[in-house]
Amino acid sequence: MKRILIIGSTGQIGSELSVRLRSIYGDGNVICGYFAPPFPEGFFESGPTVEINALDIDQIAGAVKKYKIDTIYNLAAILSATAEKNPKLGWDVGVGSLMNCLDVAREYKCGVFTPSSIGAFGPNTPKDNTPQDTIQRPNTVYGITKVLGELVSDYYYNHWQVDTRSVRFPGIISNVTLPGGGTTDYAVEIFYKAVKGEPFTCPVKAGTFMDMMYMPDALDAAINLMEADPAKLVHRNSFNLTAMSFDPEMIYGAIKKHYPDFRMEYSIDPLKQSIADSWPNKLDDSCAREEWGWQPHYDLEKMTADMILKLKTKN
Ligand code: SER
Repeated sequence: MKRILIIGSTGQIGSELSVRLRSIYGDGNVICGYFAPPFPEGFFESGPTVEINALDIDQIAGAVKKYKIDTIYNLAAILSATAEKNPKLGWDVGVGSLMNCLDVAREYKCGVFTPSSIGAFGPNTPKDNTPQDTIQRPNTVYGITKVLGELVSDYYYNHWQVDTRSVRFPGIISNVTLPGGGTTDYAVEIFYKAVKGEPFTCPVKAGTFMDMMYMPDALDAAINLMEADPAKLVHRNSFNLTAMSFDPEMIYGAIKKHYPDFRMEYSIDPLKQSIADSWPNKLDDSCAREEWGWQPHYDLEKMTADMILKLKTKN
């Protein structure tokens, strides 16, 4: 039976991963680490919680010891555009939290899941069908911390057998907790506007393709990778993943099938555009498919229909 600690359990991924993990492993076996409000509704009543600053190794070690943790999901992150505006914070959270988790995991023999990202690639990476193993020269703080995270996680596995595993998440589209300060956030924000009947101003140009994924697939990816047979893993940190690749015109078109009067205009954010331009158009995720059976269930049409349904119910 797993005993799981989630660091960053109130964020975009954590707020949904915690619910899914508790449904699989039992409420009492999933400890939700939190740092700052806002807290999801019913957060403190839903199971064990613990205050954790990911930059304080003693707090992580204390929780791992107290709750007899064997698996850490390290979700503390500063997303790409925010990290460019505050590089010091980007370095501290991107590197510091992972190093703390790895050192605690080494001492207490825990597995560690850490999200890497499409941001771990850079302008001279092959843009289409980006291979699993290829050039990684990102030019953002976020991307550099992700590459470092991948390498150091493999180091802890190779030298000290810490069971580290991770995926290169694309932009994650979700309807519970908003992402904060990512380059792919537009693909979430556009739905909130469409459902409210308001026009959307898109910060990246038509023709800017990026990989994306609907949250239920992202949760499957994290959990299935951590459950995968280690003997089958040729790679560990990190697996390319994708579920769909689109540009703003394609998601606009998909939403217009539900809301024919919906309007989108462009006001380009130079920072987000330059970050998006440095990332791949579409990753080749065949290693994840072969090594641990990765299989997404939502394409653009199916994700769009479900997002609209969920947001309509919420409003
Ligand atoms: N969603 C992230 C970002 O845009 C990419 O991993 O920063």
